[in-house]
Amino acid sequence: MNAFHGKRFVLGVTGGVAAYKAAELARLLVKAGAEVDVVLTAAGSRFVGAVTFQALTGRPVWQSLWDERMDNGMAHIDLTRGAAALLVAPATADFLAKLTHGFADDLLTTLCLARDCPLLVAPAMNRQMWENPATQRNVEQLSADGVIILGPAEGDQACGETGAGRMFEAAELFDDLHAFIQPKLLAGKRVLLTAGPTFEPLDPVRGLTNSSSGKMGFALARACAEAGAEVTLVAGPVALATPRGVTRLDVQTALQMREEVLQNLSGQDVFIAVAAVADYRPRQLEEHKIKKKTVPRTLGLEPNPDILAEVATRADAPFCVGFAAESHDLEKYAEAKRAGKKLGLVVGNLIQDGLGCDTNRVILFDAEGAHPLLLADKATVAGRIVSHLANLLEKLHA
Ligand code: C5P
Repeated sequence: MNAFHGKRFVLGVTGGVAAYKAAELARLLVKAGAEVDVVLTAAGSRFVGAVTFQALTGRPVWQSLWDERMDNGMAHIDLTRGAAALLVAPATADFLAKLTHGFADDLLTTLCLARDCPLLVAPAMNRQMWENPATQRNVEQLSADGVIILGPAEGDQACGETGAGRMFEAAELFDDLHAFIQPKLLAGKRVLLTAGPTFEPLDPVRGLTNSSSGKMGFALARACAEAGAEVTLVAGPVALATPRGVTRLDVQTALQMREEVLQNLSGQDVFIAVAAVADYRPRQLEEHKIKKKTVPRTLGLEPNPDILAEVATRADAPFCVGFAAESHDLEKYAEAKRAGKKLGLVVGNLIQDGLGCDTNRVILFDAEGAHPLLLADKATVAGRIVSHLANLLEKLHA
């Protein structure tokens, strides 16, 4: 994931216990290649010291309107110039109130007022403070003013109470920032995907399946969501976290996957079938575990429906994307799949290049021919597939 390379962020830290998560966020951003300028309020510095942020970011920390280190003495103007975004995390109730009313009585509030970049805030406070009508009014006003509100989450609070007001975790804010800086190539589009394997039970413990980690499908679902699409992901049995902002529907068998896909097809602009659907299912499902001695030596099999082929041939078919994992003759098989299933795009890869691992090398096959992409991590490959897809959709509607 190199979207952060060469980008600079201003991280405002106000006075809440969640300030410790801001330290971790700064570390994640720097590790991903971003530059981070931390602006600490007086209350923020009570929770985490400037030295910590300086060490994590490798850059000076800004705390005062009267700081003389900026050549022209105007840190409150210059810090956001050229920044990709200003994120205030944690943002206390007091800070949100000041921001709503345009206060400029310290470096961070002045910086927000004079900013020349998008502003995101991650509220963090006790649940009563969050639910208080004053805070709710402020947040509504800030939203209307174009400030992006990240969270808060619900859960245990430092004060011992439970409810809404917890700041998002550092990794979640990192993901939100990553999404925020992506070009919105699929804005307004609705995308339905399948991912993972299917599992076709033979009895309560045994079954037939394909080997598929689901990583490529999940990376693609995430990339579509980050590109601004409304994403529904029908997932076979995999141990992966749901990408932020994606609606996930879990299924086990090919028949269930088909059912969920058809139920959710209406109004979709794009259907991307990444799932490694089992081609056959056992003809009979035993209610009880088959005893070892009575396990049949021959299995009666029933073919599963081809979900993608079925969707692609419908009169109301969305733009259809298929995947082709082959062990040899990739070009020949992938192109045949594209023509055979009447697909707008096929993503082909040699099994040895992508199966189970975090990287992939793929070739895109569309009506204009084959477009090989470089070997990269699956998140990067997913981003490139999304740009190619966005181009194809644009041509289609031109
Ligand atoms: O299995 P096959 O190589 O034909 O898979 C090619 C494409 O078709 C993939 O995108 C896969 O998700 C989709 N597919 C499907 N339903 C099946 C088999 C494959 O949607 N039963």
